[in-house]
Amino acid sequence: MSQAREILRVEGLGKRFPGVVALDGVDFDLRAGEVHVLLGENGAGKSTLIKMLSGAYQPDSGRILVDGEPVAIRNASDAQRLGIATIYQEFNLVPQLTVGENLALGRPPRRFGFVDTRRMHEQARGMLDLVGVGVDPRTRVADLGIAQMQMVEIAKALALNARVLIMDEPTAVLTTSEVRRLFDLVGQLRERGVAVVFITHHLEEIAQIGDRVTVLRDGR
Ligand SMILES: Nc1ncnc2c1ncn2[C@@H]1O[C@H](COP(=O)(O)OP(=O)(O)OP(=O)(O)O)[C@@H](O)[C@H]1O
Ligand SMILES: [Mg+2]
Repeated sequence: MSQAREILRVEGLGKRFPGVVALDGVDFDLRAGEVHVLLGENGAGKSTLIKMLSGAYQPDSGRILVDGEPVAIRNASDAQRLGIATIYQEFNLVPQLTVGENLALGRPPRRFGFVDTRRMHEQARGMLDLVGVGVDPRTRVADLGIAQMQMVEIAKALALNARVLIMDEPTAVLTTSEVRRLFDLVGQLRERGVAVVFITHHLEEIAQIGDRVTVLRDGR
């Protein structure tokens, strides 16, 4: 792992909110094909850190480098262009739309001016097969279980060619067998060279899937 290519680096990142220093000079780096566990107590700054990588927050100080180049991640589309996908606990899927519609990423295939639902669902099927999830693309997202929603989110991230996949406490809402499936999938992503940032409170999960660990304490 040691000579694996570095995809992302954070140097001296700082972030204040009124009355609180959320992050104070944080350094962090991420290599292709590793699962990097981010560990820390409630309020340590884990979510704040990843929100700066996904464009939700702007850093007050420090810098973010992707492929060795300093970048500005001003919003979600900047992050997407840089290949950074984030899966929050509160998902980004549109619940009242079908899985296939969600996976069409706002650009459904058209035929004679109409959405070609058959093709849309075929394409979604292909994306879901990539993550090995047996969900019917015609299902409404609202009717999925949490674990299935998570898998659909991962499928979406891969469809957007994410090289960095950030997961904020993905196991918190899963059963033991669902966690096992998620870990299998994360292992496959790692084999493909995707870099995974994995936030957890559970120490035992580090041994199960982590290649490296960064511990945040009081924003440091
Ligand atoms: N939008 C915000 N406005 C004000 N304070 C915030 C905001 N977001 C985070 N904070 C504060 O910044 C600090 C770090 O919060 P953060 O959510 O990053 O922690 P965390 O490590 O993700 O915690 P948890 O394990 O509970 O998810 C906390 O003191 C929190 O109250
Ligand atoms: Mg958090």
